[in-house]
Amino acid sequence: MRGLSQRVKGMKPSATVAVNAKALELRRQGVDLVALTAGEPDFDTPEHVKEAARRALAQGKTKYAPPAGIPELREALAEKFRRENSLAIAPDQTIVTVGGKQALFNLFQAILDPGDEVIVLAPYWVSYPEMVRFAGGVPVEVETLPEEGFVPDPERVKRAITARTKALVVNSPNNPTGAVYPREVLEALARLALEHDFYLVSDEIYEHLIYEGEHFSPGQLAPEHTITVNGAAKAFAMTGWRIGYACGPKAVIKAMADVSSQSTTSPDTIAQWATLEALTNQEASRAFIEMAREAYRRRRDLLLKGLSEIGLKAVRPSGAFYVLLDTSPFAEDEVKAAERLLEGGVAVVPGTDFAAFGHVRLSYATSEENLRKALERFARVLQRV
Ligand SMILES: Cc1ncc(COP(=O)(O)O)c(C=O)c1O
Repeated sequence: MRGLSQRVKGMKPSATVAVNAKALELRRQGVDLVALTAGEPDFDTPEHVKEAARRALAQGKTKYAPPAGIPELREALAEKFRRENSLAIAPDQTIVTVGGKQALFNLFQAILDPGDEVIVLAPYWVSYPEMVRFAGGVPVEVETLPEEGFVPDPERVKRAITARTKALVVNSPNNPTGAVYPREVLEALARLALEHDFYLVSDEIYEHLIYEGEHFSPGQLAPEHTITVNGAAKAFAMTGWRIGYACGPKAVIKAMADVSSQSTTSPDTIAQWATLEALTNQEASRAFIEMAREAYRRRRDLLLKGLSEIGLKAVRPSGAFYVLLDTSPFAEDEVKAAERLLEGGVAVVPGTDFAAFGHVRLSYATSEENLRKALERFARVLQRV
């Protein structure tokens, strides 16, 4: 019998990708639109990384790579996790993937049986619950609250733990809230993973984009329970290169590589050589990251100041490049608010699919000029409400 699987019918396509595509299409039709929808840096990939890709091409490094990644990059990853995250990781505990997305996707395929529960902290990045469901698992939401700066309360997390809890996903700095979790909170969550023997999935893809506070990798406390996920996309403006990576217990990493071996074989070989340069040419990469971080910080400050001047409310984000804007002054719900803002010339992502009801997500990975324009348009839309 022809038709689509129940599994795929139950899957929601990514809302952020869809909204961004709509904004790009409107712009292509000539509509004057400021898009605050993108989940990617607006900078180009740094030159030293591009040059490494050209070199790899010239040297004919164009063949299949092993499913877990080229050995040189896995060694550099182990070194990176030791140096930057204080994680005692051997190269065979690392895996290179097609974006951080595939690391998470393979991970849930590797650890979940039907009915296994995965705690996700809401508002969450849209893909976590969908990936969990796709692997047969059940996402269990635990709220984080604007009045608590969207930092999770370990007691609330503890109350959601059951005999079926297989994993907890944490993402600090956070998409979409911009929250950076304090070390004590991450330590408390790692202790819960140890006490109740579940996996801690720590998505650290925004680790370098922190404006206040410090990054802490909870895998330090629970090495046998934690899978740390990261990638080249946000740190090195390499979203299109599709390189992510992860580290964790050897058996889990091996299972994730087996999933790759039967699906994608390996990530792009040329992009892996380029990522090796990004990780090992520390001087050039540090300069790039610092430049980008300072630009985001200025943009965040400009946006927050502008929002408060026109009487709009947003929790101050300490990391990543997103702000959740309270939409109550615009409309009764976030979908109508996003429509109204689109009519007013600003594309934003309604919080619905992030479980950020009453909010839209603004990305400030765009120029200061665009942010100023967006603020003027917000003010104009407000006058019309
Ligand atoms: C929280 C979070 N994790 C993971 C990813 C995956 O990134 P990529 O697959 O581009 O490496 C993203 C991308 O938007 C993200 O926001």
